[in-house]
Amino acid sequence: MRKVLISSAKGGVGKTTTTVFLAKALRDAGYKVGILDADISAPNVPFALGFKPGERKPMEVDNYLLKPHDKDGIKVVSYWFDTKNGIPFLLWAYDRTMNILRAFCERVDWGDVDVLLIDCPPTSSDELIGLLQFLGHIDGAILIIQGNTVASVEDAKIAKYTFDHHNVAVLGFIQNMMSDFFNSPDVDVEEEIKVPKIAEIPLSKDLDSKYKEYYKPVIDFMVAKKLLPKVEKSKKVEKAESDLEKAREIVKEVRAKKAEGKKTKTKKVKRKSKRKK
Ligand SMILES: Nc1ncnc2c1ncn2[C@@H]1O[C@H](COP(=O)(O)OP(=O)(O)OP(=O)(O)O)[C@@H](O)[C@H]1O
Ligand SMILES: [Mg+2]
Repeated sequence: MRKVLISSAKGGVGKTTTTVFLAKALRDAGYKVGILDADISAPNVPFALGFKPGERKPMEVDNYLLKPHDKDGIKVVSYWFDTKNGIPFLLWAYDRTMNILRAFCERVDWGDVDVLLIDCPPTSSDELIGLLQFLGHIDGAILIIQGNTVASVEDAKIAKYTFDHHNVAVLGFIQNMMSDFFNSPDVDVEEEIKVPKIAEIPLSKDLDSKYKEYYKPVIDFMVAKKLLPKVEKSKKVEKAESDLEKAREIVKEVRAKKAEGKKTKTKKVKRKSKRKK
């Protein structure tokens, strides 16, 4: 299972939005996806995935391993499921927060998930550093930047520094909420952070209907980086499906012709029997 961090060191730039829509795009492309909501203090991935308050129930534990919940084929682990009305009990309890984070990193049965997206807490200090230690091997981090604003780029630099320090590869960045609002024209983000740009996502009301198109460059990037091991299989599945569709068409045609043949035969028989009379 590949582990990819979605991070920014900054709040409100679209980490959770990116995580959730990228997960949906990956699922639609045939990958098995899990999301680890590593924001223990303010967990909201399930909410963004469409869970309703009535669906908030603790994750089951089997053989000392947590069982993720599932939303439309996306597996998710989040402290949201254990909160009351969305408010975590532990805002003040550092040790327990870290213990929960640790359990989420070490004691989850993710099954056959291909890629685990980790929605990072909006910080570059304790919780993020704990996360990096507890996760063990990490395949890379994707930075989220709000447009090309100076403040967001400066925070991304801090995130990059943190990851470099902990030997986590920063794969690239996504410019989220691209618009006239979040635009400092003189900022060259690639030059500033020195990692490649993966995609630009507009500030948009249509993420729900357009996520496949918007996040395709991110999937292509992950494929190129060999972060998606089963891409060949998913192409095979696509081909098998199209072959199956063609086979169904042929069967339909053959049946239609047979039915046509029977009709003409019965007509002929009827004509013959009329002649005999
Ligand atoms: N591309 C976008 N277009 C329009 N709205 C967006 C976009 N990306 C994010 N948003 C909105 O911006 C707000 C903040 O996004 P989000 O919660 O994903 O940020 P975050 O980085 O996870 O925040 P936090 O640090 O608090 O966890 C949300 O209301 C979200 O719907
Ligand atoms: Mg968030």
